[in-house]
Amino acid sequence: MPHTAAPHPVSGSSVTPYGTLPPASPLPQRRPVSLPRLQQMRDAGDKITMLTAYDATFAAVADAAGVECLLIGDSLGMVCQGLPSTVGVSLETMIYHTESVARGLNRVQGTAWLVADLPFGSYHESKEQALRSACALMQAGAHMVKLEGGGWTTETVRFLVERGIPVCAHLGLTPQTVHALGGYRVQGKTDQAARTLRLQARELQDAGAAMLVLEMVPAALATELTNELAQCHTIGIGAGNGTAGQVLVLHDMLGMNLGKMAKFVHDFMPGAGSVRAAMQAYVYAVKAGTFPDNAVHAW
Ligand code: KIV
Repeated sequence: MPHTAAPHPVSGSSVTPYGTLPPASPLPQRRPVSLPRLQQMRDAGDKITMLTAYDATFAAVADAAGVECLLIGDSLGMVCQGLPSTVGVSLETMIYHTESVARGLNRVQGTAWLVADLPFGSYHESKEQALRSACALMQAGAHMVKLEGGGWTTETVRFLVERGIPVCAHLGLTPQTVHALGGYRVQGKTDQAARTLRLQARELQDAGAAMLVLEMVPAALATELTNELAQCHTIGIGAGNGTAGQVLVLHDMLGMNLGKMAKFVHDFMPGAGSVRAAMQAYVYAVKAGTFPDNAVHAW
C-alpha cells in the first residue's frame, strides 16, 4: 500500500507506515476537558465546541484543532455505514468506533471529552440494560454517554448518574425516533410541545444530566432553556446561537454531505485549505458567536 509519511515529523506527532497523526497542540496550553472544566467554561461564557468523530485520525485532528468535545454519534450509521437512519446501529458498532476514537486521542495525548451515543434499543428495555450498555461504552473509552428522549428516560439518567456515569441527554429532534416523529422536523414549535420540552429538560437536569443536546428546536426556546439550566450544558444543533455550545456532524461541516444540506449546517472547508484549518475555523466561529447565525441557521 503506498504511503506518504511526513519526512520530518513534527515533535509530538505519531508516525506509522501509513501516515502521521498530527501533533497535539503544545502540552502546556492544554488542559484535559472534564466536567468541572466544562462548568468553568460555561460560567465564563466560553462556548463549548463539539464535533462528531468516528475514527482515530479525525479524532486526533479535531483534538489538535481545539475542539473540546467529540461525539461518537450514532450518525455513523448514515455517514460510515450507509444506513438510511440511526435505527440500525448496534451497540457493538458503537463500541468499535468509541475504541477507535479513544485510541486516536491516546496516541496524541489528546484531551477532548468523549461522548458516546447509546444506540437505539440499547437502553429502552430497562435501567439495568442501559447500565450494561453504558458500561460497555465507558470501558471502550467514553467519558459520557448520550441517550435520546425525555420523560421515560429521566429515571434511566438518574440510575446511570448515581452509578458514576456522566450522561448527556438529547431532546428536540431525536433521530432514533424519526419514524414516530414522522420525519426530520423542527420540534417544540407549538405551545404544548414547548411546554413538554421545558418540563423534560428540567427533569433531566434534576436527574443529573450534565449535558443536553437540543436538535432542531426554535432558537428562542433553546436560549430560554439554556438560561434556565445552569448545571446542564445545552449543546445546540439547529437550535440557534443562544446555547452553551454547538455540535455539528463532521461530514456536514467538511462539505461531504452528498444529499441536501440541512439549514443549520455550514460547510467550513471552502477557503480553509485543510481539514484541521476547517475545524479551527468552526471552533473560532462558535467561540466568536458568528456560527450559528440565527438569521440563516435557525428557526
Ligand atoms: O449522532 C449524532 O451525530 C448526533 C448529533 C446530531 C447530535 O446525535
